[in-house]
Amino acid sequence: MKTGRVVPHPIPYQGSKRGLTQTILRLFPRERVRLFEPFAGSAAVSIAAAANGLVSHIILNDANEPLMRLWERIIHSPHDLIATYERLWNAQFGRERHYYDRIREEFNNTHDPDCLLYLLARCVKASVRYNTNGEFNQSPDNRRKGAKPETIAKHVLGASRLLHGITTIRHGDFREAIHDADPNDIIYMDPPYQGVCGRRDSRYSASLPFEEFVAALHDMNHRHLSFIISYDGRTGEKTYGNLLPKNLGLGHIEVKAGVSSQATLLGRNAETVESLYISAGLVKRIGLSRIAQSQSGREAQLALF
Ligand SMILES: C[S@@+](CC[C@H](N)C(=O)[O-])C[C@H]1O[C@@H](n2cnc3c(N)ncnc32)[C@H](O)[C@@H]1O
Repeated sequence: MKTGRVVPHPIPYQGSKRGLTQTILRLFPRERVRLFEPFAGSAAVSIAAAANGLVSHIILNDANEPLMRLWERIIHSPHDLIATYERLWNAQFGRERHYYDRIREEFNNTHDPDCLLYLLARCVKASVRYNTNGEFNQSPDNRRKGAKPETIAKHVLGASRLLHGITTIRHGDFREAIHDADPNDIIYMDPPYQGVCGRRDSRYSASLPFEEFVAALHDMNHRHLSFIISYDGRTGEKTYGNLLPKNLGLGHIEVKAGVSSQATLLGRNAETVESLYISAGLVKRIGLSRIAQSQSGREAQLALF
């Protein structure tokens, strides 16, 4: 696998797994696979897998429909999307706050994906927030104007080149998105953090109760599916949520993932530790030695079963 290459990331998204992708990709089988990413967000793992030639096909899904329509635009109409972004971006100068509010209102009325790209580029720390009506309500970052059109163009075109012709877009619940997955596929899952489980998570338009997620994992085990999960995390001494239950029989790696953006937002400098879980089906497929190798270059701990 080629490491260190520049991988496009057209959608700025807090919680993106960009920092972990190389560790995750080392858990992929040697042969090209069909990859499902049912909690896609900014799809960092899928883009990196395509850039490294590890996938024959990708199924991208997220419960956030406008986000998936933005992915359609990136992959199938990149030039049109770039032109709209340039127009929106140039029109903001001299009336930035008012203009941002207007585009946000337009987005909440129309769910137009091009507006969403502008909002994600302009909002505080690319961290989306939704109110109880499901409306985007994050404020603009007043110190920044959002990525320059030429930067967005580079990332959008790069992602389009990598994903065009090999990607199927879905939107909806993750269980439906993987209904046709089979044991030869790889499923990478990065669900919303359980630290906010039971309550609505304002970071996402949809959230997911812990018990429902665990039930789905049992079902996936019965189907002998190969999956990798990024779940919970620790920042310094603070742990978010529970470990996944032992009776799921998952391999578990803890990876030091750098300084958390959440901690930075709060003015702290604590290191985040991310958990990666690997299904028994995948452990059998790639072997324990590959899992040990996945940790090279990172401080990590492996616990199996
Ligand atoms: C932690 S983010 C994923 C970030 C992604 N790994 C990246 O690289 O940007 C979790 C995503 O799950 C989505 N989501 C929440 N509940 C869902 C559900 N039940 N089914 C599918 N997607 C869901 C949210 O909209 C959000 O985009």
